[in-house]
Amino acid sequence: MFDVSPLPGDPILALMAAYRADPSDNKVDLGVGVYQDDDGATPVLLAVTEAEQRILEAQRTKSYVGIAGLAEFSDGMTRMLLGDSHPALTAGRVTTVQTAGGSGGLRVAGELIASLRPNATIWVTTPTWANHQPLLSSTGLSLKPLRYYDSAAGALDAEGFLEDVSARPEHDVILLHGCCHNPTGADLDQGLWQQVAKVCAERNILPFVDTAYQGFGRGLDADAEGIRMLAEQVPELLAVSSCSKNFGLYRERTGALTAITATAEQAQAIRTHLMKITRSMISMPPDHGARIVATILTDRSLRDAWLQELETMRERMAAQRRGFVAALEAHGLAERFGFVAEQSGMFSLLGIDKPTIDKLREDWHVYIVGSSRVNVAGMTGTRVGYIAEALAATIAA
Ligand code: LMR
Repeated sequence: MFDVSPLPGDPILALMAAYRADPSDNKVDLGVGVYQDDDGATPVLLAVTEAEQRILEAQRTKSYVGIAGLAEFSDGMTRMLLGDSHPALTAGRVTTVQTAGGSGGLRVAGELIASLRPNATIWVTTPTWANHQPLLSSTGLSLKPLRYYDSAAGALDAEGFLEDVSARPEHDVILLHGCCHNPTGADLDQGLWQQVAKVCAERNILPFVDTAYQGFGRGLDADAEGIRMLAEQVPELLAVSSCSKNFGLYRERTGALTAITATAEQAQAIRTHLMKITRSMISMPPDHGARIVATILTDRSLRDAWLQELETMRERMAAQRRGFVAALEAHGLAERFGFVAEQSGMFSLLGIDKPTIDKLREDWHVYIVGSSRVNVAGMTGTRVGYIAEALAATIAA
């Protein structure tokens, strides 16, 4: 028989389970990165439901699509990331394959790096998404930290970040967040992207960009400005996109891995490597989510409807950030947490300690990830006053 002891749960998913099991009527979920409406629900987008109906009516087979996934999906995802006329695209230096969510894309990219640059270290921002380490170190690669965020200041440590980036050895890999940095909500500005591009180009460092929240920050195209500029200045780049958040397809595991290579020939060669890795890991990606996305992106009216829904989610989260800081004013805490209103996307780090986080959960049923990351989507108009009161009372205790 197996002789094993139980392992601790994943920090984010264990918190999600604890929230679900909490019978309190007052409970507030600021944990897992899932969008919520005013009722705390995560509804299926209307454009997605419409696309699903069309697919159901038209689909006559469930036979395999192929290792690289659906071509219309990959094409749509490439254009969403790079725009229609990016120089790398017109030069044929881009290839995209479908992956099992953004996480699947990260893992395939990790396997590719492990086979092509086996001695490379992947440098990750401090902090970074809690699952980057387990996902990527499973490939045998080592991950090391770059300075990125100054918790005390509630802002990017731009100087420290640049210093660390500039000191990376040649041939290493830097993992960046395309937008809506998870967990800090603090993004690189165009100037910093420029500098990163310069270092990567000069030192043959491979930029690896995780874009899980495109459209949740400043807008679908604005959120890609950094990566588009970077992709103009470096010969090679890997990027992973997720449809979990912007299409709300969390459980459909829909994502893409885009590789930019120095030549068009190399793009075709890399594609065969990506397909080999996919085949050895999951054989072939699932169809449903990718077909929904392809259906939406290739139909003018569906695309417009989706863009509208995306914009609504984005604006709502930005408004909730402001609402949170406004609600803290009555408690004299607006200045301390004012940075939340300045940041973008789904997350911010409150910078509160573990006992405070535990007390918020135990006494107030407010669920926050142990790093003090909050999902601002949970700060709805009806709940924000309660959250502010809970935070103020817990900090004062
Ligand atoms: C998050 O960061 O909360 C999401 O990306 C969900 C996850 O799998 O961790």
